[in-house]
Amino acid sequence: MPDTLPLSRGMELIDRLSVDHELELGEYEGLVASFCPELASYAAGRACEARRSVYGDDVFIRGLIEIGSYCRNDCLYCGLRRSNRGAERYRLSREEILACCEEGYRLGFRTFVLQGGEDAAFTDEVVCDIVASIKEAHPDCAVTLSLGERSRESYRALFDAGADRYLLRHETADRAHYAQLHPAGLSWERRMACLRELSDIGYQVGCGFMVGSPHQTSATLARDLKLVEGFRPAMCGIGPFIPHHATPFAHEPAGSAELTCYLLSLLRLIDPGLLLPATTALGTLDARGHERGMLAGANVVMPNLSPITVRRKYELYDNKACAGSEAAEGLAELSRRMEAIGYHVVVDRGDVRRRATE
Ligand code: 5AD
Repeated sequence: MPDTLPLSRGMELIDRLSVDHELELGEYEGLVASFCPELASYAAGRACEARRSVYGDDVFIRGLIEIGSYCRNDCLYCGLRRSNRGAERYRLSREEILACCEEGYRLGFRTFVLQGGEDAAFTDEVVCDIVASIKEAHPDCAVTLSLGERSRESYRALFDAGADRYLLRHETADRAHYAQLHPAGLSWERRMACLRELSDIGYQVGCGFMVGSPHQTSATLARDLKLVEGFRPAMCGIGPFIPHHATPFAHEPAGSAELTCYLLSLLRLIDPGLLLPATTALGTLDARGHERGMLAGANVVMPNLSPITVRRKYELYDNKACAGSEAAEGLAELSRRMEAIGYHVVVDRGDVRRRATE
């Protein structure tokens, strides 16, 4: 455990990060280890200035469609893991997915995120057809995929069919930590290769990690920050780890909403143009998670647009929120809550904004 920094030193590093958008690994580690309410509130103030300079007070929304809960993987933290025989599995049809988009469009969504477990039934042919159909029906919308690890050829085919973005959380930037969260068949190297391939193909790529996952330390979190600094993703999704009762991590403690918010602020300072969602996990742990996330520097919310009948079945962790402002039907409530803190939900694709030199 590194020593915690005096508050003045922490603030100095945050000021430097706001200007240079980079720090040494050890400096990130010091900042993470020194997390306290005073430093977090200082970082949040700086982060909000940085976000405002790129995105104003706009909140981008994405309609999240959980297209299926079958998964071939056995990640130790996830309720959809193959070994969880108790999970009720489902798979949406092409028609059901298109109906979700129809409804989402009517509500004001201009990005649809198709997320699901790694399911062999979602072949390239099936997914390409769905993506092309969405783009045909809604040419003004972006389609984001979040379907895990696939081959380079598959990523290429999906991109050619019209997918604009791909979310694949790296989960942890530390190889040894990755092995503590995943079964032997999954490798950190392959994960990184996938992210690289997606970016080379031309996707706007999102990576991300859980906060407070078992075996995580300030050193591994510092690596996560360094990875974002170097890889420059369009988006980075972070949320607290929340245990699921039917996984090996059932009895591990949940991560903290406060630390998640502090890390959101640091990520915002690393890249003022980064798309940063206030995630469902944050909203699950804290009823005011969306507000807290925004006030720490986030600028995206991804309400659930899945058919109501399947929402409970996409159970990544216990008590996953899917009502109120987490739900697409709750958009009016989300808008109200954002207005109350000075932010505005906008009808927009919400593409990443990069500095002119990039
Ligand atoms: N707690 C919090 N987040 C989780 N995820 C999976 N399981 C959990 C959990 N128990 C996250 C992972 C995955 C994303 C879809 O959900 O980071 O990439």
